[in-house]
Amino acid sequence: MDTKWITCMEEDDKECLESAGEILRSGGLVAFPTETVYGLGGEALNPSSSEKIYAAKGRPSDNPLIVHICKFEDIYRIVADTPESREMLKVAEKLAHAFWPGPLTMILPKSDEVPYETTGGLSTVAVRMPKHKTALALIEKGGGYIAAPSANTSGRPSPTLAKHVKEDMDGRIDMIVDGGEVGIGIESTIVDLTVEPVQILRPGYITAAMISQIVGKVDMDVTILSDASGQTPRAPGMKYRHYAPKGELTIVSGKQEDVVKYINQALKKAREAGLKTGVIATDETKEQYEADLVKTAGSRQDEATVAKSLYGILRDFDEEGMQVMYSESFPLDGIGQAIMNRLLKAAGHHVIQL
Ligand code: TXA
Ligand code: MG
Repeated sequence: MDTKWITCMEEDDKECLESAGEILRSGGLVAFPTETVYGLGGEALNPSSSEKIYAAKGRPSDNPLIVHICKFEDIYRIVADTPESREMLKVAEKLAHAFWPGPLTMILPKSDEVPYETTGGLSTVAVRMPKHKTALALIEKGGGYIAAPSANTSGRPSPTLAKHVKEDMDGRIDMIVDGGEVGIGIESTIVDLTVEPVQILRPGYITAAMISQIVGKVDMDVTILSDASGQTPRAPGMKYRHYAPKGELTIVSGKQEDVVKYINQALKKAREAGLKTGVIATDETKEQYEADLVKTAGSRQDEATVAKSLYGILRDFDEEGMQVMYSESFPLDGIGQAIMNRLLKAAGHHVIQL
């Protein structure tokens, strides 16, 4: 298949939106930017589009897709109409009022309109309204309900640039819409509204504290930061070894000067063994490392910069053939929790605590 590449920096780029919308409405696949990461879009209410998404990503078919909408009232068609789900929708309305459009995905009981192909066989549906003008316009042109997982091959870091999508999806999908670099860089927060209290299944830019301000008590899936619980994550996608670089990544945690010293010693050994080495550093420490490739993830004063560059760095390390990589650790509050959740997965939970 020939994958069309189209640049669309303006939400009113009619030509781009028309052609992308036409592909979506006829059951094809279009990758497009959102504020979190690039998504791989297909019609959510069309089972054959969802099957194509799984095939293009090489994704296990028990891993459900998020349905993206462009206006809140569209939620009612895809959520079950029962007394229980009406109560859950009241919570969804409050959260949407606070955070939509934005990087928050809500899990609710699904209606019969949503095919099991889209929900990976589950009777619940994940819904999100992204805060990105091109994405919103495209969802509307595509018929209002667009299933969109991150536009990476299953197991690779999510794409934060259109060129990352091309690396993974060229020849496998109909179109890539290039809207430049995404704003946030890690996937949306997922909150399950079908349990009481509501539960965060995947941390993101919208934190537990922010959600708690709107709905009161919030639980966390125990698997978010640990792999030792022996439990299966409740978001099926979180159980796969996601975001994994090809080389071996280790996170080192402790006082800054101790971390730098430890990593430099470990790098020296790896280099002596003839291995290619990389470090995920911060603006504060980047000058202090001796590795083949030192990448700063951003500043500790502004962790959003770290979230934004993390996946791109993991991809760069793959491209450069890095074999041994070390990363600094980040605090577990605020956006740091989402950063550490992704980093721990990338490292296969390999952490050195000094
Ligand atoms: O920011 C995002 O959410 C991006 C952009 C493109 O919107 N999308 C994204 O989709 O990250 P994906 O497919 O890469 O991740 C979706 C996650 C998976 O871990 C999946 O298992 C979980 O959401 N999920 C989807 N539906 C679910 C459901 N009904 N119950 C529990 N988890 C669900
Ligand atoms: Mg993904």
